[in-house]
Amino acid sequence: MKILILGDIVGRPGRAFLKAHLSNYKLKNGIDCVIANGENAAGGAGITAKTAKEILGSGVDAITLGDHVWDQMNFNREIDDLQYVCRPANLPVSNPGRDRLIIEKGGLKIGIFTVLGRTFMGPKVSCPFQTASKVVQDLVAQTDIIIAEIHAETTSEKEAMGWHLDGNVSMVFGTHTHVPTADGRILKEGTGYQSDLGMTGPRESVLGRDIDACLGRFIDGMPRKCPVATEDVGMQGCIVDLDVKSGFPHSIKIIDHRV
Ligand SMILES: [Fe+2]
Ligand SMILES: [Fe+2]
Repeated sequence: MKILILGDIVGRPGRAFLKAHLSNYKLKNGIDCVIANGENAAGGAGITAKTAKEILGSGVDAITLGDHVWDQMNFNREIDDLQYVCRPANLPVSNPGRDRLIIEKGGLKIGIFTVLGRTFMGPKVSCPFQTASKVVQDLVAQTDIIIAEIHAETTSEKEAMGWHLDGNVSMVFGTHTHVPTADGRILKEGTGYQSDLGMTGPRESVLGRDIDACLGRFIDGMPRKCPVATEDVGMQGCIVDLDVKSGFPHSIKIIDHRV
């Protein structure tokens, strides 16, 4: 089974790229399932029901979120109706939305969840390691395959999560930095791992945003709007080729697809 996992979808350019190219890419590469982080899908910050539905309509099967989960007003009232969207599992339990997803593909049940890291991250969340263990324990009884995401700033926290879950899930991938890491590999107990998938958005940018505006903020420190950039759009992530019997990957292929 081949699962395509995509880094943060950034704004209209990211969504438009998926709409134009994802179905063809899936066919060409024999993809059975697509998981994508959608935390920057609406105007670069957060997501709405409308944009989530657009992404699902482009061929994504499950959308995860991150620290920008509540950036769009009203999304807290929309998320419960979105069956294939989950918010970080270690947010306070009072937060709306699903903290995990179970989807069916090719007769297999795939459990998906994300946790937020705590180093250099804003939201007040409970321990991502304890939360991940608890969610995995639940999902083991209900699913054939588990895909875990750590949405975090530091590679150290992400690698630690990879080792924490090694042997207990099929894949641990990181998101949030919008820049892919070159460390896609299989860990010693069989779990696939990549520290950060990158993004689905405009690469001629600073993490998906307008270069001049972002550069200006660093140089003079003055506040200014940083709109989503528009050029050199593509999708970054990985293809995990899973052995369905063991649940562990044969291979992890890092992708950076442009047309
Ligand atoms: Fe992001
Ligand atoms: Fe993020």
